[in-house]
Amino acid sequence: MWTGTPLFPERASTMAGRVDALYFFLLGITAFFSLLIAGLIVYYAIKYRRRTPDAVGAPIHGGLALEVAWTVIPLFITMIVFVWGASVFFAMSRPPDETLDIYVVGKQWMWKVQHLDGQREIDELHVPVGRAVKLIMTSEDVIHSFFIPAFRVKADVIPGRYTTLWFQSTTPGRYHLFCAEYCGTKHSGMIGQIVVMEPSEYQTWLSGGSPEGSLASTGAKLFADLACNTCHRSDAQGRGPVLEGLFGKTVTLQSGETATVDEAYVRESILMPSAKVAAGFQPIMPTFQGLVTEEQLLALVEYVKSLRGLPQVQAR
Ligand code: CUA
Repeated sequence: MWTGTPLFPERASTMAGRVDALYFFLLGITAFFSLLIAGLIVYYAIKYRRRTPDAVGAPIHGGLALEVAWTVIPLFITMIVFVWGASVFFAMSRPPDETLDIYVVGKQWMWKVQHLDGQREIDELHVPVGRAVKLIMTSEDVIHSFFIPAFRVKADVIPGRYTTLWFQSTTPGRYHLFCAEYCGTKHSGMIGQIVVMEPSEYQTWLSGGSPEGSLASTGAKLFADLACNTCHRSDAQGRGPVLEGLFGKTVTLQSGETATVDEAYVRESILMPSAKVAAGFQPIMPTFQGLVTEEQLLALVEYVKSLRGLPQVQAR
């Protein structure tokens, strides 16, 4: 319904119906009370109008039942909105365990997309229908916001940080992608398309030429080019931690605190190696700030991720 009007874009994700239901509920509550209050104002204004020039209104000294009612009923309604809203929010912020991960880098004024198989695209994102997709996003410059109205999802894309957004599309087609955070002169031109395809079509599209190889293999090449492998050796004889099997684990730091090895931790460890040094190692790693681009960082992160399934050799 109302898909013809630009205010109500089509619903093309599993989340769209839930967001709309809550939205219409809020709209309904607002309309009901607006009409009720406006109607009562008009009704009482007429009913209790001054009939003679010297008429004086009757004194009123509160009414307990009335006050309890207008306190308890709104409390009840706002609690419904709160619990309902929280449940939608949690569903939106927690991706399922099995997702198709895709990296996104925002920059003035374009969206750069990097698939794990090595496919890259600009201002377009191809995804298979029915599959939970998780976008891991960052920005090269200022704050942008990745917004797909038809999926009812939006997330800020922030320099120096990874934010995620997930969705599961339900209908093949082409959908608008907008930048929803003012980011400079051509903010309004920072738009694109989400192309939702049947899984078989998607596979064909993916295999359609990716001469550079997978993102992880690009990361592996970079890992060697930057000589990371001289210290991060897989035989536990290096001066840096073994990276095989590390991603997703919790590590103890020099400070005694612990940290989970996620995308943000790997990124920080490349750019600011001394920030969170793993226990048992010296803070001797140089910073790579300014030496690697956001896209190269993503390749390195993906490479470290790809090692997660490998057995970790313990230092003796
Ligand atoms: Cu990017 Cu607005």
